[in-house]
Amino acid sequence: MQPIQSLPPTFRWGVSTAAYQIEGAADIDGRGPSIWDTFSRVPGAVANGDTGDIACDHYRLWRDDIALMRQLGVSDYRFSISWPRVLPTGKGAANKAGLAFYDRLVDGLLEAGIRPYATLYHWDLPQALQDAGGWPERATAEHFGDYAAVMADALGDRVQDWATLNEPLCSAWLGHLEGVLAPGLRDLTAAVRSSYHLLLGHGLATQALRSHAAIKPNVGLVFNMTPCEPATDDDRDAARRADGHNNRWWLDPVHGRGFPADMREVYGVALPERPGDTETIAAPLDHLGLNYYFRQIIQDAPDLPAPSYRVVPVPDAPTTAMGWEVHPDGLEQLLMRLHHEYAPASILVTENGSAYQDEVGADGSVHDPDRVAYLERHLEAAASAVRRGAPLHGYYAWSLMDNFEWAHGYDKRFGLIHVDYKTQQRTIKASGHRYAQLIADHRTATAFPA
Ligand code: IFM
Repeated sequence: MQPIQSLPPTFRWGVSTAAYQIEGAADIDGRGPSIWDTFSRVPGAVANGDTGDIACDHYRLWRDDIALMRQLGVSDYRFSISWPRVLPTGKGAANKAGLAFYDRLVDGLLEAGIRPYATLYHWDLPQALQDAGGWPERATAEHFGDYAAVMADALGDRVQDWATLNEPLCSAWLGHLEGVLAPGLRDLTAAVRSSYHLLLGHGLATQALRSHAAIKPNVGLVFNMTPCEPATDDDRDAARRADGHNNRWWLDPVHGRGFPADMREVYGVALPERPGDTETIAAPLDHLGLNYYFRQIIQDAPDLPAPSYRVVPVPDAPTTAMGWEVHPDGLEQLLMRLHHEYAPASILVTENGSAYQDEVGADGSVHDPDRVAYLERHLEAAASAVRRGAPLHGYYAWSLMDNFEWAHGYDKRFGLIHVDYKTQQRTIKASGHRYAQLIADHRTATAFPA
């Protein structure tokens, strides 16, 4: 099969998760509250009033989960560290029990021959820092840099791969502008200031990782990108704004181009810039993480506040349970765009996956043919980009297992492994078996090159 033959022998085959979505143990061993503990308790914020209090109970079941990763045969595991678990108020003295959890996890992964990839921030800001103003305030970025130093001191002798932030777009725009993720604000000024401080925090964390880690770190930032296509010729300007909002606002400053002038004008919010920030934000990345789920078809919407566009559905397009269009070409398109426009040294697809209504059948197995097809088609798109020269070095399926899907609670299942939340029983789905087969075939194929 094409992807197997054309992906390089060093290709990294991983799975991704995030702390709040899987760990549970919300008030165990000194963990402090995060903005998600608060937000998930706001009536109506999360489907069914679900919370991450227990989630997949990974804090207790992590050994079993590593054993499942071994069954899949993955080479890499991308997880995130819960900031409030290691620094309960976001700053000050580290919580030894919290650090010890990640210590055990990393050792367990290494013993299992799985390469750990740690993300420092996957949306769970310590509530105490939110109470002090959160990401709209510069101090949060500075505390984030200090937290990165704590983690580099603790794990930097064994973890080489790091991401500072996961999808800062979601933290800023969905958390502070659209109000659908924690902290649930709808305030353009707070959102733009957050975007700035998230990227500043990324730069400060990058410096901290590079100066504190015992082994030279491979530092990345994980962007969720989306191709933005105009619905009609009249929507071209709106599509350009959507691209600015989703993609260029994040990629340009990190690649030394500053925040895009057209979008500064669209937002009309003064950035809290200080001398030296531009350079801090633009510290060269060792790798760029790309999370890809869907494209957006854009229609101009002068009736809406900035950035004044709406996303319209693609007629008759196949969609997942999230209502997201299945569009593998978008992945190839983004990989080629990154390669040509930003020339990153290395790219990892740090997330890609699909939610479907999975059920455990009478025979105890989970048949998820749509997810199998999704996986195969996106890997084909990734392999095609590699053949065309994109420096893509790995693919991490989202997600290892079903988990807390933020505002959708436990209703949406993205896992290669099914989780029965009542019993915490894990069942590898057909897609998980298919992924294992693809990985195994790839290893065989690369051991005996044609
Ligand atoms: O579950 C999320 C993840 O936390 C961030 N990227 C998108 C996934 C699916 O929505």
